[in-house]
Amino acid sequence: MIVEPKVREYICTTAHPTGCEENVRRQIKYVEEQGIIDGPKKVLVIGSSTGYGLASRITAAFGCKADTLGVMFEREAAGKRTATPGWYNTKAFEKFAQEEGLYAKSINGDAFSSAIKEQVIDVIRKDLGQVDLVIYSLAAPRRTTADGTVYNSVLKTTGETFTNKSLDLRKNEVTEKSIDPATAEELEATIKVMGGEDWKDWIAALKNAGVLADGAITVAYSYIGPKLTYPIYSDGTIGQAKKHLHKTAVEMNQEFEGVKAYISVNKALVTQASAAIPIVPLYFAILYKVMKEQGTHEGCIQQISRLFHTKLFVPEVSTDDEYKIRMDDWELEDKVQNEVMKIWEKVNTENVEELTDIEGYWEDFYHMFGFHFDNIDYSLDVEV
Ligand code: NAI
Repeated sequence: MIVEPKVREYICTTAHPTGCEENVRRQIKYVEEQGIIDGPKKVLVIGSSTGYGLASRITAAFGCKADTLGVMFEREAAGKRTATPGWYNTKAFEKFAQEEGLYAKSINGDAFSSAIKEQVIDVIRKDLGQVDLVIYSLAAPRRTTADGTVYNSVLKTTGETFTNKSLDLRKNEVTEKSIDPATAEELEATIKVMGGEDWKDWIAALKNAGVLADGAITVAYSYIGPKLTYPIYSDGTIGQAKKHLHKTAVEMNQEFEGVKAYISVNKALVTQASAAIPIVPLYFAILYKVMKEQGTHEGCIQQISRLFHTKLFVPEVSTDDEYKIRMDDWELEDKVQNEVMKIWEKVNTENVEELTDIEGYWEDFYHMFGFHFDNIDYSLDVEV
């Protein structure tokens, strides 16, 4: 069928198979251009199908020539409904990896569940023996724990109601948005979903099963961001969950012998997860403008390739006392943030196209779903 984008605010309900393949192909090309990394050889990526996790899988496979096992939660096509982009990305990735003679298997299911953890352990045991790198890149709205309790994460403040400018993505208008404080239960639920508990469960399960190589590295992704977004991000519910994640890295380094746990604090980028956070998309559009002008803009693949090449697989990994590696170094430079703040003060609906890179925001958005690639003929029928 002919597949067209159907955009509803911050989500697109269709995905283009050929376009998703193109997205993966371009990321592989970038990684190959950066040269070989003397890095891991057997890699597990939890949250491997889109965004930072997909970029990590591609960097491991095509930068380190590693065998990869991916875990994701994606939907297959059904009738006239296309699959999710992560499903197409994974098919494309597996095809390209196999062409290169690289092992690539993927498990589609709920990473929070013990059933999926057991399945992953079985596959590692059978196919890989052990893994030497585990990337934890889940961004999930909810988690069901072993006792059947469902925790829903929320994007709220933890103090007062916070009001600031925001981008209405339906009309590209600059409006005001107020975000309410979370209740104690909502905060606790967000920490359950996006904090470090499940990461630690994964590493403990892998270690106890003997499928984690001695000296294995595990990295989870986090975000901090500038003061501007502190009330909604860093000091908000999601930021509290990230603080829990950071503490978990410290705990794991103390408790798990032979495992090194790091946090990579990454740059703000348009992904399915981040597009849903209020206020943040306007910050993204301004940030893109400033960083592109200053020549320091990166996408997920550039971030993760730089992480592997210059910060993680180097003789001495440089971190703070919470094992944090700062990949947000360029985003948080004064010359970037001062410029962002100047634009933030001035931006309104009339000047949003001129002062921000809203076009770049939307390009990234469409590319995530396989649309707007100039070398794809979208008028052709495709098998979904
Ligand atoms: P994303 O939405 O592109 O990717 C999420 C991944 O998690 C997908 O592969 C999805 O299939 C998988 N997933 C979700 N629920 C699952 C479940 N129950 N079981 C198995 N897999 C599941 O998100 P993005 O942005 O790449 O986020 C990944 C990590 O990076 C998150 O921890 C996020 O906080 C962090 N991060 C994101 C930044 C951004 O600006 N996008 C900035 C810095 C960190």
